[in-house]
Amino acid sequence: MASTADMRPAKPATNPGAAAKPLWGGRFADAPSGELELFGASLPFDQRLWREDVAGSKAHAAMLAAQGIISQEDADSIEAGLDEIAGQIEAGTFSFDPSVDEDIHMAIERVLTERIGAAGGRLHTGRSRNDQVALDLHLACRGYAASLMDALDALCQTLVSRAEEHMGVVMPGYTHLQPAQPVLLSHHLLAYFWMFHRDFARAKAAHDAADSCPLGSAALAGTTYPLDRAATAAALGFSRVTPNSMDGVSNRDFAVDLIYACTLTQVHLSRLCEELVLWSSAEFGFVEMDDAHSTGSSIMPQKKNPDFAELVRGKTGRVMGDLVSILTILKGLPLTYGKDLQEDKEPVFDAIDTVLGSLHAVTGMVGTMTVNEGRMREASYEGYMAATDLADYLVGKGLPFREAHAIVGRIVADCVREGVSLQELTTDELTSYSALFDEGALDAIDIDRVVERRRTYGATGHEAVQTQIAEARTALSSQMRS
Ligand code: ARG
Repeated sequence: MASTADMRPAKPATNPGAAAKPLWGGRFADAPSGELELFGASLPFDQRLWREDVAGSKAHAAMLAAQGIISQEDADSIEAGLDEIAGQIEAGTFSFDPSVDEDIHMAIERVLTERIGAAGGRLHTGRSRNDQVALDLHLACRGYAASLMDALDALCQTLVSRAEEHMGVVMPGYTHLQPAQPVLLSHHLLAYFWMFHRDFARAKAAHDAADSCPLGSAALAGTTYPLDRAATAAALGFSRVTPNSMDGVSNRDFAVDLIYACTLTQVHLSRLCEELVLWSSAEFGFVEMDDAHSTGSSIMPQKKNPDFAELVRGKTGRVMGDLVSILTILKGLPLTYGKDLQEDKEPVFDAIDTVLGSLHAVTGMVGTMTVNEGRMREASYEGYMAATDLADYLVGKGLPFREAHAIVGRIVADCVREGVSLQELTTDELTSYSALFDEGALDAIDIDRVVERRRTYGATGHEAVQTQIAEARTALSSQMRS
């Protein structure tokens, strides 16, 4: 662009709020006001990436020296300087200067250069903050995905252990939250096991998506320096290198994958917590949360509230919001880097922190809750849940299912009126509805027999659930990070 600006005398800084000149000061006569600087800064939240930033810089400097782009002495003093900085950040003694440090990358480079001089100024050779920040986020997301896998694995283990521990306990199964058919508690718990097992696969996919090194993409077009991209990728433990520099600096799909894995996990946790809240109510009375996972009331002495289950349920909205945020940041973003991308980090941090905290809480709740087996069994007699089996009994005697359904419907209506359960009826009472009933009918509606007869693969019968537990154990042992 033709401009006369170059010929103009340097304009004195007129902005009274303007801070010290940033790294790119050469091109600028003025700087944004303090307020605008704060608005544009990411340091308050991307400080968290210091470990990744230091690791990336060390790998980059070592490669620059190996390629003869900088001297070995410079690489050595960069490495020593970075180690010292890392030690200070870790110890909380590093002095960030919010008036000049826009982000963690600039803070570290500024202090490095102040300490080691010219060598510090050579670190950024062949690198841009665009590939630097992309690298940091790849490293962070890969680590978070591994933590998510570990936490999911712990919950999966707990669910299977409790399913084994309570094998044989019958409880009501619901549709529309109305008593439907009796099931084994183990079957109900294993339904959650499979959800979290699928979440594990999603976390692993997010891990693999992040496992690609964008360093060397530079600003967007690559660089003229003879970088060895494979060497930095290997030094940082990546299994591959991003194949396109433009995609390398603007891709955040791996962060979306991670947040999606977090979101669905959190949705599953929320469903489980909803059930724990219901089950621990006086009306259900199926479980009692242990004291360490409950809170009391400041006014009502009798209260024991399932606060943590409610909180997990309540936190689900924010994780879903994080997913919408990151998708919206990417939607319509032209290639390549846009400052919009600075907004990618907080949703990632918030989603992973929330889901890891929630997984920890729920694993504790499930592992320590007391199961009221007697109450579950009692409730299994309450909702006429053997009605389907009673109708099936008549079908076994040759009656068309529709007719059997109508007869049993009348029986249930009479039982409801008289306030008795199906199992309280005698054979004589049953035969007054249909001559096809005989003593075998009482066995057909015995609650344990009702469950036991469901033998198809994946059903709630004892044998099928034993098979399922064995499969869950096999699935658990294959739930490995790589
Ligand atoms: N703080 C920035 C971010 O988080 C670092 C990259 C800045 N790059 C740039 N060209 N402004 O995205």
